[in-house]
Amino acid sequence: MKPTIQTVLLAMLGVLMTMALTSRSVAGPEDAPKVPRGVHVQSPKLDPELVRKTKEETDKAIRRGEMLWKDRQLGTNGQSCNMCHPNGAATHPETFPKFKQQFGRVVTVQEFMNWCIIAALRGDSREIGSEDLTALEAFQAYANRGQVMEIGVPGP
Ligand code: HEC
Repeated sequence: MKPTIQTVLLAMLGVLMTMALTSRSVAGPEDAPKVPRGVHVQSPKLDPELVRKTKEETDKAIRRGEMLWKDRQLGTNGQSCNMCHPNGAATHPETFPKFKQQFGRVVTVQEFMNWCIIAALRGDSREIGSEDLTALEAFQAYANRGQVMEIGVPGP
């Protein structure tokens, strides 16, 4: 049977679609540029003003977070995060999101920080993404910088 123009076109379309789908492979760690550990690669094309603002604003959040971390008024029982987690110790931000039995599901680090605010400080939970939680998370991450990301490791 002689192929009609329609069947030829359909076959070509099929080949093109397969090529498009298979070429969309996911990049893995092996694709990362070979740079020394801890050196963050940034595009030289980044706007210097954005680089400056990113550092400045993030530093502000870290400093605010450190104040809250040591603030005995954050909850209602006169305790602070720092009394149980001196300088962010035993919080393992590098292991989140992970399963926590208190929630019975995988939670983000902010959700678990709220658990400590309620259970350990007898305070009110904060909205996820609120200034307080984001600042606390910024300080906690900063204090634990250099840890290897190891999602799901049970802790603390
Ligand atoms: C009275 C002591 C106490 C205080 C105060 C306290 N925590 Fe905790 N925190 C704990 C204990 C105990 C655990 C372990 C609970 C668990 O993992 O199930 C924990 C666990 C955590 C974890 C999870 C660690 C992991 O690897 O799973 C984070 C994050 C955390 N705390 C953040 C905070 C923050 C932020 C504050 C202040 C808002 C705070 N904690 C205040 C005792 C405390």
